[in-house]
Amino acid sequence: FRPAAGYHQKVLDHYNKPRNVGSMDKNDANVGTGLVGAPACGDVMKLQIRVDDNGIISDVKFKTFGCGSAIASSSYLTELVRGMSIDEAGKVKNTTIAKELSLPPVKLHCSMLAEDAIKSAIKDYKSKRAAETVLTSSPT
Ligand code: FES
Ligand code: FES
Repeated sequence: FRPAAGYHQKVLDHYNKPRNVGSMDKNDANVGTGLVGAPACGDVMKLQIRVDDNGIISDVKFKTFGCGSAIASSSYLTELVRGMSIDEAGKVKNTTIAKELSLPPVKLHCSMLAEDAIKSAIKDYKSKRAAETVLTSSPT
């Protein structure tokens, strides 16, 4: 494998050895699932978080059908947000990912996919929790 010119070592490392690839049970009440697509190229990313009852992300898994930068961005993101609270994780910016991986400007949208995916996973988790609260608090 010969790295394309201009790609930073860190992208290649995450691309060649992606961390936390896989999936979790999306029906699990503690799991939030984000599924997003990049309009620019049609690539798709699925990101799942397991949130403990104290609001801390204890596990992260992803599957990305996309380019190397999208895979590297999601792989890096899984390591970044593990151990964060969902509020902290919701503030992660794609520019942070792009900077860390030294993505070239044309690949910025690939890191945007990762930011969208974590936001969408958090939203899913929160809406599940809200639904549960309504269910458990409604009279039987
Ligand atoms: Fe979709 Fe990057 S254009 S792989
Ligand atoms: Fe489209 Fe990378 S996600 S080129």
